[in-house]
Amino acid sequence: MSTGSPRVLPAESGIAEAAAVLRSGGLVAFPTETVYGLGANALDARAAARIFEAKARPSFDPLISHLADAADLPGLVGAVPPAVAALVERFWPGPLTLIVDRPAVIPPIVTSGLDTMAVRVPDEPSARALIAAAGVPVAAPSANRFGQLSPTRAEHVVAGLGGAVEVVLDGGPTRCGIESTIVDARGERPVVLRLGALPVEALVDAVGPVEVRQGNSGQPVAPGTLAAHYAPRTPLRLGAAAEGDGGRRGFLAFRERPAGGDWAAVEVLSPEGDLTAAAARLFDALHRLDATGVTEIVAEPVPEVGVGRAINDRLRRAAATWR
Ligand code: TXA
Ligand code: MG
Repeated sequence: MSTGSPRVLPAESGIAEAAAVLRSGGLVAFPTETVYGLGANALDARAAARIFEAKARPSFDPLISHLADAADLPGLVGAVPPAVAALVERFWPGPLTLIVDRPAVIPPIVTSGLDTMAVRVPDEPSARALIAAAGVPVAAPSANRFGQLSPTRAEHVVAGLGGAVEVVLDGGPTRCGIESTIVDARGERPVVLRLGALPVEALVDAVGPVEVRQGNSGQPVAPGTLAAHYAPRTPLRLGAAAEGDGGRRGFLAFRERPAGGDWAAVEVLSPEGDLTAAAARLFDALHRLDATGVTEIVAEPVPEVGVGRAINDRLRRAAATWR
């Protein structure tokens, strides 16, 4: 972990300063509607290299480039296939990342040498203002160390990355709390490469049937959707409250506190049983359980519909780390 600490600035008033850091090749963490991103100028190979270094991210895991506005896409990548254009039109700004051909101005390090590039327009005014002020596309993975929990608050970024990032824009907790859905819509049928904040059902409504290809380690089409990922430091597994003898273990519940078992710590994602609210709290709850010093986290799967699929996906990947 890097020593020192970043400058933490309010998301609204810190934009000019943060944009100057981006333009000069530095790293800025900023809120999006999904999670906090660790941004660098996507046109600058050395700046992008600093992202991989700060996150201890393997060089084979490509970055998402962020634009201020959907209207900026043609200027960067030229014409896109009709299905991609339809998804842009329908869902940008928003938690949808699309795969397009990598233009020559984007250095290969950003895409880990792939001839495709992932791109999105975040639905967060301060993020779009930052990108617009920087005047360049901003490459940004989630602002956490590789393989660890994604940050949904500025505090998570500071705790995880420390002085490895120059400026953190603090916009409070993020609205969706879970990463964007990644879709490759260049072929005949759109393929979901990563489940995320935009539910599959919404995609199907917009463009008809899609294929969900749950990426795994070693699968070249989505090299970053590794089986083991998004993990707390505490071992995590999927389970039910009923089995609990409590002890020094923590429980992550969907809507109800477990009746039995003397769990050392309990987090409830949404007492109303609202999956969108649960997604927004997921990583924050895991960060908190992680900080309690419990010996194990038992996480209850949520209903496998809508954004619930993405929540379960993250829980399974976290559990895979500890298997
Ligand atoms: O919500 C989000 O998408 C957040 C915010 C900051 O925008 N970003 C994010 O980035 O989750 P990251 O780096 O944690 O995840 C990016 C994912 C990785 O799984 C990577 O493999 C995949 O995007 N990816 C990037 N470029 C790709 C490409 N050309 N083809 C397939 N997958 C790609
Ligand atoms: Mg990530």
